Amino acid sequence: MESIKTLGEFILDNQKDYPDASGELTSLFSSIRLAAKVLHREINKAGLVDITGSAGDENIQGEQQQKLDVYANERFKNALAQRGVVCGIASEEEEEFVKFEETKNLEGKYVVLIDPLDGSSNIDVNVSVGTIFSVYRRVSAVGSKVTEADFLQPGHQQVAAGYVIYGSSTMMVYSTGSGVNGFTYDPTIGVFCLSHPDLQVPEDGNIYSVNEGNYIRFPEGVKKYIKYCQEEDESTKRPYTSRYIGSLVSDFHRNLIKGGIYLYPTSSRYPDGKLRLLYECNPMAYLIEQAGGKAISHPGQRILDLEPSKLHQRCPLFVGSPNMVDKLAQFIEENE
Ligand code: AHG
Ligand code: MN
Ligand code: MN
Repeated sequence: MESIKTLGEFILDNQKDYPDASGELTSLFSSIRLAAKVLHREINKAGLVDITGSAGDENIQGEQQQKLDVYANERFKNALAQRGVVCGIASEEEEEFVKFEETKNLEGKYVVLIDPLDGSSNIDVNVSVGTIFSVYRRVSAVGSKVTEADFLQPGHQQVAAGYVIYGSSTMMVYSTGSGVNGFTYDPTIGVFCLSHPDLQVPEDGNIYSVNEGNYIRFPEGVKKYIKYCQEEDESTKRPYTSRYIGSLVSDFHRNLIKGGIYLYPTSSRYPDGKLRLLYECNPMAYLIEQAGGKAISHPGQRILDLEPSKLHQRCPLFVGSPNMVDKLAQFIEENE
């Protein structure tokens, strides 16, 4: 039998490479792994038990909370509070950041920002959803209560980021700053196994992913780039293929593996873009750069350099294969 490496073994093996590592990040990953397994179980029962549909409330962004949004938020929050390495979290589903105030948590070095269930409107129709997470070292003193400044750090300060995709199989893809690795969950033995070591995004691709229903409201440069994607040109393998699932994790995951570009621009409906900088754009930008790709905002700044000013801040996102993002940046620049 071919030898398999579990996520737990992989983390331990890599920890040996960092003599100063205290095991706290390892513990943090164990919490995420556990919550992801529980969510995998619930999502797989979604049509059978009363967990699909709206929870009846709106979140801070005025979006309908689905029952699974609420459930996922509670699972991840509880799992992250358990081990005392995290001093607080910020979540799409919570208006304010959450302080973990037990003594063990005050000693925690890390904060986590999380989109507990991404693409949640897809859940009722049996389409892939995900969880996105981003980890920072706190800037406030260890031993004190977590502060807003701990969460409002630019993306280049992330110490880890990743996502779980609950798709035709469940996978966890993450980086701690030395490449990106993917682990597929084997539900029969209850472990994530290394299946996609050292993921690299292809330099070029032929997939573009955007909600084209908003086309007339997009900035001129983005419109022209979309037309460029649709033009016939054999030497650059155009027209490209259009693929849009409507869950960032799933669209990103496909483009990471196959090569492509994902676009969520500004529009008159979403003047700042729709996606949230801290728990959607930054973790994806960190992952794509670790995989050799690029992530920019409008009109072309690197996502990881943006200075956040509030927890639920939105920003335009263009992310994917480096040559495709460069081409788009050129269109944006020429049409500003
Ligand atoms: P969430 O379910 O966490 O609110 O995120 C939904 C996001 C993202 O996953 C997806 O890419 C985007 O919304 C889709 O938006 P449109 O329906 O406007 O295309
Ligand atoms: Mn989301
Ligand atoms: Mn969400």
